[in-house]
Amino acid sequence: MTQSLTIARPDDWHLHLRDGAMLNAVLPETARHFARAIIMPNLVPPVVTGDQAAAYRDRILAALPAEMTFEPLMTLYLTEKTDPADVAAAFSSGLIKAVKLYPAGATTNSASGVGDFDKVRGVLETMAEIGLPLCVHGEVTDADVDIFDREAVFIDRVLDPIRKATPGLRVVMEHITTANGVDYVKSNAADLAATITTHHLIINRNHLLVGGIKPHYYCLPVAKRESHRLALRAAATSGDARFFIGTDSAPHTDPNKESACGCAGCFTATNTMSLLAHIFDEDGALDKLEGFASRNGPAFYGLPVNSDTITLTKHDEPATFPAKIDTTDGPVTVFDPGYDIHWTVDE
Ligand code: DOR
Ligand code: ZN
Repeated sequence: MTQSLTIARPDDWHLHLRDGAMLNAVLPETARHFARAIIMPNLVPPVVTGDQAAAYRDRILAALPAEMTFEPLMTLYLTEKTDPADVAAAFSSGLIKAVKLYPAGATTNSASGVGDFDKVRGVLETMAEIGLPLCVHGEVTDADVDIFDREAVFIDRVLDPIRKATPGLRVVMEHITTANGVDYVKSNAADLAATITTHHLIINRNHLLVGGIKPHYYCLPVAKRESHRLALRAAATSGDARFFIGTDSAPHTDPNKESACGCAGCFTATNTMSLLAHIFDEDGALDKLEGFASRNGPAFYGLPVNSDTITLTKHDEPATFPAKIDTTDGPVTVFDPGYDIHWTVDE
């Protein structure tokens, strides 16, 4: 028996598109199902100024196949040298929708991120004044903090003090991975939200490490224990408007993943909507999928919900997805949940 669900076209509130050959290969995977995405600025070199964001936006639009529509929502990479006036100008012209905070050294291409948070105080104050959201990679980088504790420690030591010192600052905690992140968002008012990735709703740290290391399940923040995954599932499927999809789909070629020092990132652009339908179906929450994928994000960012729709269909037979996307830089493995998925997006 087939079953169908039609929802407003979704958006992805945290996406890595990269540049060049990789951009060309992965952009259609997102544009096929998503109308818009918040584009991460961690290129090499990073997208720091308004001019750089405008040029990157042009490269993304030039890479879009003629028959597809897609709106990249640009961000700036916050550094200790970021000029508040440049940020304000890029926001008021409509070019950027957020600024991204990477603690220096926290993840891929974050070396130019923030080490001394006092140095970005002026930018954060400007952002609070003009209503420009800050997207946060919420992990401390201190060598003495265990990697599984880095999100919880970040909330206490960095995020909460920043928010208290900057009233009115709108913050998105990106890709939360812990019950601590869920609880922190829930205990706060409407100026705080969180994105949750598809993969963190599916894998815990056992999937990454038991029976052999699985490089394609390695991402940052690293997947935590099962109780945290269940807290994320409960938040995502609850209908609480402060939680929405941000896939953090992060392509790296197979040689860069399957390596003695492999890159962090799961590539989920291709099958995210099918995986989300499976998850929400499994949790008896299909009626909440539209909020998580299509409504809560626009509400936080003050943007309209997309006027067109997508239809998801559940089939008796399992769906098939490509195992890899070919790029001229090398193959990129598509995230495999490890179980059958029966939902597809009607084309
Ligand atoms: O897994 C991740 N990959 N986490 C990040 O924060 C960065 C991303 C990337 O750029 O590859
Ligand atoms: Zn990311």
